[in-house]
Amino acid sequence: MKLKYRIIGSIFLIFFNSCKNKNSLTINSPNNQISVIFNSNNEGINYAIEYKDSLLIKPSKLGYQFKDMQPFEKNFIISEFKLSNSNTAWTQVWGENKEIVDNYNKLAISLQEKEGLKRKINIIFKLYDDGVGFRYEIPIQKNIDSIYITNELTEFNFINNHSAWFIPANFDSYETLYKNKLLSEVSSANTPITFETKDGNFISIHEANLTNYAGMTLNKTSDNLSFEADLVPWANGVKVKTKTPMQSPWRTIEITDKAEKLVESNLILNLNEPNKIKDTSWIEPMKYIGIWWGMHLGTHTWTLGEKHGANTEDTKKYIDFAAKHNIKGVLVEGWNTGWENWGKRDAFDFVTPYEDFDLEEITKYAISKNIEFIGHVETGGAAQSFETNLDKIFSLYNGLGVKTVKTGYAGGIQTKGQYHHGQFMVNHYRNVLEQAAKYQIMIDAHEPIKPTGIRRTYPNMMTREGTRGMEWNAWSSGNPPEHHTILPFTRGLAGPIDYTPGTFDILFKNAKNRVKWNGLDDGTSRVNTTLAKQLALFVVLYSPLQMASDLIKNYENQPAFKFIEYFATDWEKSKVLNGKIGDYITIVRKDKKSEDWFLGSITDEKDRNFKIELKFLDQNKKYKAEVYADGDSADWKTNPQEMKIFSKEVDSKTILSLKLASGGGQAVKFTPIKQYK
Ligand code: NOJ
Ligand code: CA
Repeated sequence: MKLKYRIIGSIFLIFFNSCKNKNSLTINSPNNQISVIFNSNNEGINYAIEYKDSLLIKPSKLGYQFKDMQPFEKNFIISEFKLSNSNTAWTQVWGENKEIVDNYNKLAISLQEKEGLKRKINIIFKLYDDGVGFRYEIPIQKNIDSIYITNELTEFNFINNHSAWFIPANFDSYETLYKNKLLSEVSSANTPITFETKDGNFISIHEANLTNYAGMTLNKTSDNLSFEADLVPWANGVKVKTKTPMQSPWRTIEITDKAEKLVESNLILNLNEPNKIKDTSWIEPMKYIGIWWGMHLGTHTWTLGEKHGANTEDTKKYIDFAAKHNIKGVLVEGWNTGWENWGKRDAFDFVTPYEDFDLEEITKYAISKNIEFIGHVETGGAAQSFETNLDKIFSLYNGLGVKTVKTGYAGGIQTKGQYHHGQFMVNHYRNVLEQAAKYQIMIDAHEPIKPTGIRRTYPNMMTREGTRGMEWNAWSSGNPPEHHTILPFTRGLAGPIDYTPGTFDILFKNAKNRVKWNGLDDGTSRVNTTLAKQLALFVVLYSPLQMASDLIKNYENQPAFKFIEYFATDWEKSKVLNGKIGDYITIVRKDKKSEDWFLGSITDEKDRNFKIELKFLDQNKKYKAEVYADGDSADWKTNPQEMKIFSKEVDSKTILSLKLASGGGQAVKFTPIKQYK
């Protein structure tokens, strides 16, 4: 590649190669460490990325193929380009950090066909200090109206065989275990996919602001180190149906020199539109419990019968427990009819309660105790029927004072030829979100489209599943200890995860009357962590709705539950203190409403000791550290329940020793000690 003409500029740099074809542009990130080199010539349109003066992504194709229209691929010239930079900050309604810095250099390139219809396309690059985003725009123009994309040509061509953490591409589910393989051995992937280079840099590919478009997966090209976009199709093979003016989601490439910085990146959020909801007073992060785990364990049922979980009496007990233990929400699944037909077409009407569940009485009771009843809408994949009934469902909930709804799409999408991650469903999930906002309802979506930062624009999009969560431990071989040490660096980069940690009865000793209901259950299921790690996961796996997932009987009189009781739900700031993908991670978060800090540290199957500097604490304060640690002989396999809970005085100069058992973790709450002068 010819980069010899490049000049390093102070703020940002653009080089317009005037030698022959006026076809090359280069732009740098604000700190000059990342450069994008754009080219459009007779061969095609492409971009390359340099990081710290070495090539990271070699020239990689850009463009589109269409049904009924010539591709956008070759013979485009740069008709115009515009450079700008911006350095601002904005405030999140809720999140890991209150203030987000948005500092980028932008290059907007207008391309036009040299001959023929002279069609136009724009490609926009935004360069941040921790990565690159780019998107396509097809502006309004004479010769294009409707657009049927059959292939997005975007490539990501690596030059080295990095180590990759990924789940294989799947158009319907993200609920598989992450694999760590050499890039050359990855044939396809969902995003985010994360890479570690030999010289210790980190790269993650994903997308931001997925709106009216198909979800992107990655496919290996004939070059063993290169991927191309593979969009989830409609039934007829078309990937995206749209019109001009059209904007694609941002293709994002996060690039950092530390794994920790990947987790701290705000690039995805920054590439989304600002908040569209004016009055956000009704949106509030919270902890919740639920009538839920029992059904997964097989001690209770969603259906009516002797073991029906969602009955009025038990729900009231959950509401009482929540009120007593500083938990705001109570989720109830199986409250409405249709579960006996789960898996069949249009099984649910979404609004009719079972005869032993008095919805009105329950919602009134919840309000009287200042508790939020979280309604559950399982569609079983009947998205269309849910959408038709949206008004009926949300007005019912709204009338009863319900402010949060958990949605679910377990099973194939019932509309013929549709996948969970195609444009049809992307638009469905958004429609649900927008309608919910009108009724002042927050959404927790299961079997969702992956997060792409839409929570910035619609902050009622609280959390979602889209990962292999806690439920898998109830009825399968479960999630191995390393799973949680991969999630923050992969799926977690995309946005909040409704993982639902907090199972205390790790070995299901109190679940003697379990009935097998799931084919994956061979009777040996358990949770593959220590108890202390369950607490640490509250800090590590960020979610604004954070569930304590176990049955309340397993929380009664448990000293460890105090940590969950105290745990905050919204954060002033978050810091990643250490982390190695697939091995361990330690995160601290400061409560937005108090001076408290919370620390969570987790490991994979290897036991580890850390020395943690408490520099993040206020220098002028002394703190009481309440430590929830693995017991001396704790081990996830043989002795998962043993814990040590103790307090000690610390300050910002203290070096805290953490001892994590195999498959273990540690959770700490830091509270300032009042000093009387
Ligand atoms: C799968 C969801 O992930 C889980 O949370 C829910 O309980 C079941 N579907 C039933 O809706
Ligand atoms: Ca699920």
